[in-house]
Amino acid sequence: MPATVIKSGTFTLGGDRSVWRLGYGAMQLAGPGVFGPPKDPEAALAVLCEAVASGVNHIDTSDFYGPHVTNQLIGKALHPYAADLVIATKIGARRGIDGSWLPALTPNELTQAVHDNLRNLGLDVLDVVNLRSMFGVHGPAEGSIEAPLSVLAELQRKGLVRHIGLSNVTPAQIEEGRRICEIVCVQNHYNLAHPADDALIDELAGDGIAYVPFFPLGGFTPLQSSNLSGVAQRLGATPMQVALAWLLRRAPNILLIPGTSSIRHLRENLAVAGLDLPEDALTALDGIGSHADAA
Ligand SMILES: NC(=O)c1ccc[n+]([C@@H]2O[C@H](COP(=O)([O-])OP(=O)(O)OC[C@H]3O[C@@H](n4cnc5c(N)ncnc54)[C@H](OP(=O)(O)O)[C@@H]3O)[C@@H](O)[C@H]2O)c1
Repeated sequence: MPATVIKSGTFTLGGDRSVWRLGYGAMQLAGPGVFGPPKDPEAALAVLCEAVASGVNHIDTSDFYGPHVTNQLIGKALHPYAADLVIATKIGARRGIDGSWLPALTPNELTQAVHDNLRNLGLDVLDVVNLRSMFGVHGPAEGSIEAPLSVLAELQRKGLVRHIGLSNVTPAQIEEGRRICEIVCVQNHYNLAHPADDALIDELAGDGIAYVPFFPLGGFTPLQSSNLSGVAQRLGATPMQVALAWLLRRAPNILLIPGTSSIRHLRENLAVAGLDLPEDALTALDGIGSHADAA
């Protein structure tokens, strides 16, 4: 296994599922707009195989990517799964016929989503299921998550789900969630230019809860910043590698799931655990979130 993935260190989810902190997000493997099949299914399968061959043992997905597409690709490429592979999925949304992202939080929809994930991934138990809050589609918004989370907790008691996480949530919703069941991870939008969850990350670290930033590279609007480019140039790395290395350094409970449909980008992303960021680089990067040149 390449030393770089090992260099990212490990984090144990829920006391029993240990993963390298450098993982992979499968969302980019579906078609344009995360809707429909990929243009080149063989290339998508190759990315998954290379990720796991490179040591990745934490893959983030959802049955609403495609829908069904990324889970079916994961199954086709990797089933039967290595014992150490942790596949984290999420439920709580569905896709409209136009590709829109809609809430799917009724007991029936949540139960169906767990069964869809099990079937399309070819699993008897899902390792980690994140409840994706949909009070705001593009960012966390307040509202009680008690009803849908109780449904997910019941599915956990039935043995269909090993661990539960929350996604797109506020600190108040995390607090509410932790009164209902054990929460092992939180998956929110966070990156160099979008550090809104800074205080939350440190709190969760203290409680042994993983923080899994989505859009670590900016998502549909890739990060652009003169500071980031400058640091990357000085270090002989790409801006995206520096953005990931900064996240790895940011807190020990951060797990990376950068998304890519490209083997070249996958290799670049997996190389970042070996990238050291000197103090002056960190200072320049820490300032990006409060400056207007970052997107
Ligand atoms: N919970 C949620 O609500 C939520 C929302 C969004 C995403 N997610 C999860 O988070 C994961 C990561 O987010 P994301 O994939 O949306 O965004 P991301 O990782 O921030 O960025 C992905 C974009 O960056 C490009 N990219 C990747 N590596 C690159 C590199 N080395 N150099 C240049 N460009 C690169 C990708 O294009 P190429 O394909 O061309 O490499 C893609 O356009 C997803 O896969 C998904 O599992 C969760």
